[in-house]
Amino acid sequence: MEPSTSAPAVTSSKQFLRKHMLKLAPYTPIEPFEVLSTRYGRKPEDIIKLDANENPYGPPPEVRQALGTMSFPHIYPDPETRALRQALAKMHNIPVEHLLVGCGADELIDLLMRCVLEPGDKIVDSPPTFTMYCFDADVNDARVVTVPRLEGFKIDVEGIKKAVAEHQPKVVFLTSPNNPDGSMIAEADLLAILALPVLVVLDEAYIEFSSEASRLDWVARYNNLVVLRTFSKSAALAGLRVGYGSFPLEMIEYMWRAKQPYNVSVAAEVAACAALTNMEYLNTVRDALVQERERLFALLKEVPFLEPYPSHANFILAKVTGGRDAKAVKDALASQHGIMVRHYAKKELSGYIRVSVGKPEHTDKLMAALKQL
Ligand SMILES: Cc1ncc(COP(=O)(O)O)c(C=O)c1O
Repeated sequence: MEPSTSAPAVTSSKQFLRKHMLKLAPYTPIEPFEVLSTRYGRKPEDIIKLDANENPYGPPPEVRQALGTMSFPHIYPDPETRALRQALAKMHNIPVEHLLVGCGADELIDLLMRCVLEPGDKIVDSPPTFTMYCFDADVNDARVVTVPRLEGFKIDVEGIKKAVAEHQPKVVFLTSPNNPDGSMIAEADLLAILALPVLVVLDEAYIEFSSEASRLDWVARYNNLVVLRTFSKSAALAGLRVGYGSFPLEMIEYMWRAKQPYNVSVAAEVAACAALTNMEYLNTVRDALVQERERLFALLKEVPFLEPYPSHANFILAKVTGGRDAKAVKDALASQHGIMVRHYAKKELSGYIRVSVGKPEHTDKLMAALKQL
């Protein structure tokens, strides 16, 4: 039969999309080494990537070895990531029943929102902070109540209390150390927010780089607390995508029901388990990054057009001063020196750059480049 020439039954495939999807901001791709390499005409190994808080040391040698000798890549992974959850429970001394592993902490943020938010429900976001909370809220058709941070990026506890009373949000997102500035939440502030009738998500993606203990074990005591962790930063497995969280027991049961059964690949679980077998390596790398952070901070302070903020994570936020444009600084570092740092389009952060802590030689090259700008 000839294809019909009459008017199509459907004029635009857009009509099938959920209404709130049409309002989503366009996707901004993260640029991998290969793309950066072509753009800046440098070999991938000559690019210094200080823009995504990755760990330049890479994982312990046990990870490559375990990946190379994986027994069952042809078999679906364990939907319950039993081996990894057992190892994590033992390491953190918490009951395994509280733990859920995801394809990065990112997946767990989205999974949690899918489980708890009805369309139109609200979350509290305290910018500047990790942008995925807002991104996932938008994808899940939730509303964002914004309570900006105070001077020095401190959480505005009174503002959050007021927002909770006024808007009845379901979830408050807190990040400690906070991305992008590296500040910690004070214990009194956390306790005050936990006393509110909301689910508190404490994102500890960078906790290993701070001198404070994780609050993973608080989850057994507070039935409104979720704590998120990741293998992307301190364990250097960003490319393999492994994050985990500790969830209240009544809640986790439903997260299990909603999660994709094979969300953590065989390679990801094998790699994460192997990383945990060499804590000595992980601790040495963490110590090296913490030491380098302090050196980088002191050096950035000497740059006449930068004002760095003290950080408890593996990155440093710096205000660009002296009439310089932060985006121009970022662009010049990239195009003239192959050094990637993070700049933000958002108005409140447009005058800042964020620099991930690298190896000492990365700091040296960055400092030499900054002197030439
Ligand atoms: C605060 C924070 N939480 C979570 C993540 C995401 O972690 P993952 O790589 O495990 O998805 C990041 C990544 O940059 C982050 O900065």
